[in-house]
Amino acid sequence: MNKKQVILDMDPGIDDALALVAALNRLNVLGVSTVAGNATQEQTFQNAHRILQFTRHSTVPVVSGADRPLFYPLLTAEDIHGFSGMGAYNWKAPDVSPGDELAWNWMARRLTALSHPCHLIATGPLTNIAMLLWSHPEVQSQLTSISCMAGALPGTKMDKTFEFNVYVDPHAADVVFRYGHDVHLIGINAAHSALLPLSELERFKKYGRVGHMLFDLLGFYAEHARGEGGDPSAMPLDDAMVVAATDAPEMFQWEEMPLTVVREGPLRGTVVVAPYESKRAPVKIATTVDVSQFFEWLWASLDE
Ligand code: RIB
Ligand code: CA
Repeated sequence: MNKKQVILDMDPGIDDALALVAALNRLNVLGVSTVAGNATQEQTFQNAHRILQFTRHSTVPVVSGADRPLFYPLLTAEDIHGFSGMGAYNWKAPDVSPGDELAWNWMARRLTALSHPCHLIATGPLTNIAMLLWSHPEVQSQLTSISCMAGALPGTKMDKTFEFNVYVDPHAADVVFRYGHDVHLIGINAAHSALLPLSELERFKKYGRVGHMLFDLLGFYAEHARGEGGDPSAMPLDDAMVVAATDAPEMFQWEEMPLTVVREGPLRGTVVVAPYESKRAPVKIATTVDVSQFFEWLWASLDE
């Protein structure tokens, strides 16, 4: 079966690294753009490049995007991902210099050149995606879907109101949510319904040198993100679920509703149903995931 064509926008970040490996095996990755989030823009760019080089996909282009949110100062997550964004992993790969072209301009140029539309996956703050849709609105016809790891979403088990990507850049998230039907959201509510038991970490070692690299990265993540999903003996794999939602959306149940984001004040980053008068088109929200199908997909996605 032909693999779906996709562009990835990420803030690697350890769970982004797992999502990237899964995407490289399951999808046709046309390029990776990076954004500041889990770590600084410089670090996320180097990390994306290192993962592609390590997995022998160094021909996949990596482009550098926003080094901060649209309006707020940058917040990073070194408490979870380590200062470099890759835990304590010691990459051998040298640093590379990003080109001059900004991620959203590269995405627009790449999308326009395509003979048919492709999917966009975003696993970090949505700054680059907002800039793409704002500065190149014409590309929407070249996008089959924009799937995002974003938000603690209405219509799902609202046991949380905070999600990092939307909190870091709520203005960008609100811009993207205006684009309605093309937007598919995996919120932490769905993502945290499929936590990986820490006892399963060893299984990554069955997948060769890439599996061992993931084992090392996720070992750091397990120590720092365990309990994020409410169970101290398990950890969320948030970003991998967005790749699964693009590759196999039938694993999910979806609801449609118009959304907006609280952008200022103590409720910053809270995602709410947009008022009727906003006339916003609905976005698709994953309300449930078939957990056993997801993990079956995840392990299969590590087979090269
Ligand atoms: O809230 C989880 C999201 O924030 C994930 O994408 C994680 O990598 C961080 O970017
Ligand atoms: Ca991420």
